[in-house]
Amino acid sequence: MTKAAESTERSTKDATTDRSLDRDCTTLSRHILQQLQSFSPEAQDLSALMNRIALAGKLIARRLSRAGLMEDVLGFTGETNIQGESVKKMDVYANNVFIAVFKQSGLVCRLASEEMEKPYYIPENCPVGRYTLLYDPIDGSSNTDINLSLGSIFSIRQQEGEDVDGSAKDLLAPGRKQIAAGYILYGPSTMLVYTIGKGVHSFTLDPSLGEFILSEENIQIPVHGPVYSVNEGNFWQWDEPIREYIRYVHRTEGYTARYSGAMVSDIHRILIQGGVFLYPGTVKKPEGKLRLLYETAPIAFVIEQAGGRATTGYENILDVVPKHLHQRTPLIVGSKENVAKVESFLKQN
Ligand code: AHG
Ligand code: MN
Ligand code: MN
Repeated sequence: MTKAAESTERSTKDATTDRSLDRDCTTLSRHILQQLQSFSPEAQDLSALMNRIALAGKLIARRLSRAGLMEDVLGFTGETNIQGESVKKMDVYANNVFIAVFKQSGLVCRLASEEMEKPYYIPENCPVGRYTLLYDPIDGSSNTDINLSLGSIFSIRQQEGEDVDGSAKDLLAPGRKQIAAGYILYGPSTMLVYTIGKGVHSFTLDPSLGEFILSEENIQIPVHGPVYSVNEGNFWQWDEPIREYIRYVHRTEGYTARYSGAMVSDIHRILIQGGVFLYPGTVKKPEGKLRLLYETAPIAFVIEQAGGRATTGYENILDVVPKHLHQRTPLIVGSKENVAKVESFLKQN
């Protein structure tokens, strides 16, 4: 090999090493600063906030990975939450993890979660913490005891005005007020997917580094996909238009059903491969099961940012104004064409 060829080979190798090194260094907090193209105090805050959420994800992932080997991790607590659902020990642990990581952070004054009747205040943060974290600590709880995929969902809002009476009325605002949202998926690997209104980006937890490293930037959901994801056991409880849609899917070639029991998993599949996830209302519960502030609004923000859509069937999820903290909404979310197809059945009636 000539000297010139040797030097070219060396510099090509260096470039490859640099690229992979650069990728390995694209951590979540650095990515946020890159996205905002700023080192302003707001950008630093958001980056630090996301770093704390990542820490919560790592703590929860660590516990889940050893759950079958430890005492008092799996099973129910015997309590019922504000939603009327039986609480699992992992729900409580994960709920507390999010609180713990934000203590003395100076970032978050309030946390509101589906596991707590009222928001949790961190008074020492309140003079400076201008943000509220809304979250579903464990999404897909029924998967906990059988070692299947789970998630956490998060949403960040700016506190508006003083919440002197602790009523948190400013949270009763549409999902468009979210400044960041995303989810953590506890699957074969742990992934964090987020948006701050500048596209959707995914990160994978590298256990050897203990860091979330960038996997994919600017994820775009396919315009159409084959998956429909819904609990068909509820068929008999749905209104006729939803039943008609499901009958249409059954007689049309090219659809395939996937439903894991954890929305985060099902949504992640649809984000990457396209399709539609539905949790419609039922005749007895027209608002369905999923909660607006902790589940449907954050997922809607992510999917819209990826080029998809999220609706109640009649209203864009991000426009729904909640009347109370734990309000539920029906949800139809996913690829644009799939969502439009479901809507066409609703319009006929
Ligand atoms: P959570 O575990 O936070 O209560 O949420 C469970 C949600 C969602 O993840 C999932 O898609 C759906 O409820 C499953 O409900 P069904 O068992 O009624 O299908
Ligand atoms: Mn949930
Ligand atoms: Mn939950």
